[in-house]
Amino acid sequence: MENPVIVAIDGPSGTGKSSTSKAVAAKLGLSYLDTGAQYRAMTWWMLSNGIDVNDATEVATAAGKPAIVSGTDPSAPTITVDGADAAGPIRSQEVTAAVSAVSAVPEVRSRLVELQRSAAASASVGIVVEGRDIGTTVLPDATLKIFLTASAEARAARRNGELTGPAAADLAATQAALAKRDAADSGRKTSPLAKADDAIEVDTTELTLDQVIECIVTLIEEKRAAR
Ligand code: DC
Repeated sequence: MENPVIVAIDGPSGTGKSSTSKAVAAKLGLSYLDTGAQYRAMTWWMLSNGIDVNDATEVATAAGKPAIVSGTDPSAPTITVDGADAAGPIRSQEVTAAVSAVSAVPEVRSRLVELQRSAAASASVGIVVEGRDIGTTVLPDATLKIFLTASAEARAARRNGELTGPAAADLAATQAALAKRDAADSGRKTSPLAKADDAIEVDTTELTLDQVIECIVTLIEEKRAAR
């Protein structure tokens, strides 16, 4: 039997990575893993347990403690920390503001990369894995690697659409916050946000979500047909 298909989808936030990855996985009957949710879950645990997220030594020492479990059904992805549902709290502003610092710590990355590789290895139906370093570091032998991009304006506008309350009002602030997080994610030493040499770049600025999904489904089908 041929090996299950493994699709790596990387790129900065606001490019439509999560919506695209989930929909592609659902359409093709593949599993789905949101690795950003795992970094957020780790960050939520650190904040909830009084760890100073700006103290890399403290974060490194605690990195092995939380039990983080991701459910990989694309129609209902789940994430738990020590058995508690973390899907809501990991999207809070506090977690979003702290996640880049936590995910820059090598001990955090090695722990989560191990979880990510084992999820990919056990996905007998194949899997779509989304993140920042999936094609470069986590799954360098993926069947297909996609790198999603979009203009800074388009990304801020999309992210603003996802926010509610006063935070949604200020587009310039959203753009500045995204730029700050991208700079931290791209500039860190350990496996930064980067396009793999063999990744296909898809600029989503002028595309609808359906067009991006269709484009990636076609690329996967072409890869499958060529095997
Ligand atoms: O995709 P997201 O915005 O939920 O990701 C949250 C943060 O997690 C992001 O700012 C950087 C980090 N991250 C990472 O370092 N490596 C990944 N593979 C995925 C996310």
